Amino acid sequence: MAHWKMDCDADGYVWLTIDVADKSVNVLTHEVLDELDELVSNLSKQEEIKGLALLSGKSGGFVYGADVRQFELLKDAETVATHINKAHHIMNSIANLPYPTVVGIEGIAVGGGLELPLVFDHIIVTASPKTQLGFPEVGLGILPGYGGSGRAYRRVGLAMALELMLTGKSVDANKAFAIGLVDQLVDNEGELRDAAKAWLKAQNGVKPQRDMQPVPDDADAIFRAAGDAHLSRARADHTPAPFAIIDHIRDHMTDPQAMTDAELIIFPALMTSPASKGLRRLFDYKDKVRKSGRGDSGVKHLHVIGGGVMGGDIAAYSAMSGFTVTLSDQNPDAIDKAIERAKVLYERRLKTEDKIADAMARLTADPDGHGMAKADLIIEAVAERLDVKQAVFRDMESRAKSDAILATNTSSIPLASIAEVLTHPERLVGIHFFNPMPVLPLVEIIWADTTAAAITDRAMRFAGQLKKMPIRCKSAPGFMVNRALLPYIYGGIDKMLAGTDADRIDEAMVDYGMPMGPIELADQIGLDVTLDAGLPLGVPDQVAAVLQDHIDQGKLGRKSGSGFYQWDGKKAIRPRHQYPAGELAALAEELLLPMIEECQSAVDEGVVENADMADAGMIFGTGFPGFRGGPLFWASQQKK
Ligand code: NAI
Repeated sequence: MAHWKMDCDADGYVWLTIDVADKSVNVLTHEVLDELDELVSNLSKQEEIKGLALLSGKSGGFVYGADVRQFELLKDAETVATHINKAHHIMNSIANLPYPTVVGIEGIAVGGGLELPLVFDHIIVTASPKTQLGFPEVGLGILPGYGGSGRAYRRVGLAMALELMLTGKSVDANKAFAIGLVDQLVDNEGELRDAAKAWLKAQNGVKPQRDMQPVPDDADAIFRAAGDAHLSRARADHTPAPFAIIDHIRDHMTDPQAMTDAELIIFPALMTSPASKGLRRLFDYKDKVRKSGRGDSGVKHLHVIGGGVMGGDIAAYSAMSGFTVTLSDQNPDAIDKAIERAKVLYERRLKTEDKIADAMARLTADPDGHGMAKADLIIEAVAERLDVKQAVFRDMESRAKSDAILATNTSSIPLASIAEVLTHPERLVGIHFFNPMPVLPLVEIIWADTTAAAITDRAMRFAGQLKKMPIRCKSAPGFMVNRALLPYIYGGIDKMLAGTDADRIDEAMVDYGMPMGPIELADQIGLDVTLDAGLPLGVPDQVAAVLQDHIDQGKLGRKSGSGFYQWDGKKAIRPRHQYPAGELAALAEELLLPMIEECQSAVDEGVVENADMADAGMIFGTGFPGFRGGPLFWASQQKK
């Protein structure tokens, strides 16, 4: 066997170890399950066995679940059902072994990696912070499919089963023990084997029985609370999984075995839904983007020039993430305001006085820019004017350490133009954050032909250390996100000018899954910014004219209280009429065309590495619905 080891000790206990070959962590690939199937059918035949114990051969880690990428090999509901049937057969065979079974866990045990332990009679976990148990399936648009739903319910009861399956969040060892998901805690990994053996001995060959969970008296209230928390902002036609999970538990809670069996019907339907396909793409993008930003950037000290909207937030957020930060601005008031804003951010995010004080201590007002001489990375976030930026970079290069990274947060100026004033243009990279910077995960890491690859790599890692989502982009008008977002917004405005009601346009995109439609988004961004940001890309004349007209009247959108809509604080006042669904879907398809075309041309022109990165950029940078898998993935699915 490549992935499992099996020994029998002198007392008649079988020790099974999972150690998936050629992988740093254990995952339940099809091959791993095939081997387990063979092992278990042999175990069932051997009468002399007194007990079975399962441990992980990977220190510090148990099982990360099924191999999500292999799900893509299961092309239709029938193939999925065959796979799930087989997994159920294996899990049921272990559950039905006639002798006591025990599993010892340290580290991650999620998804199928939790469903597997749940078939054992006794679960021992280490009380290490590494130990995390959970059902992340809902995030992939599915539910536990290896029999875990009923088995978890039997252990933790209604409220916790719903919480585990609907939030997708893991619980630590202490919580898992408190809610009954596991049976025993030990201090460390070294104790797992002895604890398992002691438990087996204590059973004396007799298999323990687990009581049924009674249906709680307040079941209705529990379902209502779960619905309020998880369904009120979801739509079954967008993301069916949370709805299916609640129905599944409600329908079967009197009989956890029936719940487990019902997975065989529900799982294949969810797995082959468009939402699950999109969410699996999203999972893959997150994984790839995180990996591309992994590692040490070598940055300890960051200097930020310009303490306005962006620079202030970049400085504050970086200090919160552990970097030493100095902040300069030609206007000392801007620095003071940025530091006041930082305090508010820390109070909201860090909570304890100690942590707030530590973060504040890492952020220093530096009006004269002395920090530049010590910084490993200098980020410029001054006004969006080439002459201003060039002056800043001339000064920066003369003061910076020779190996410091020189970065700009420009949203539209070509890197090559800024680099003209540098003696060493290879040190210049764009680190383009989005506003509000502490909230939005995307960072475009902009490279020009002059940029040294090692500098781009370090900038990627710096963004990774901020726990952001960095995507590599070539310096080209609009980079990735604005290149695709603005033409979509202009297309929406154009449609409105051609007579389609603004509310209908926005509703079409909300119905598609966007947080808001293009007209409302233009107001939200500000009509002045909507116009200016598009100038390098080209703004259709009629759209530029209507934007300019609004700007001239002081109607800038949300920030001035009116734009295309009137605004009531943070909300656009629009009728939000109900329109026929088919009409909205056709309109959404039309509105998305410019975005899809621009994403495709960005890939063709090498602005981003591939279609996945274009899709990831739009999801992480613009609120494009994750369950659609991104504009290009969605478009590719429409053609099928
Ligand atoms: P802002 O106007 O809020 O802040 C700019 C700050 O730079 C001001 O405090 C100003 O006093 C200071 N400044 C100007 N010239 C300076 C100089 N020569 N030396 C030192 N400080 C100087 O501008 P914002 O919005 O923060 O934009 C900054 C940069 O970030 C621009 O390049 C912009 O395109 C880019 N950006 C802006 C986004 C946004 O949504 N506001 C989003 C992404 C990028």
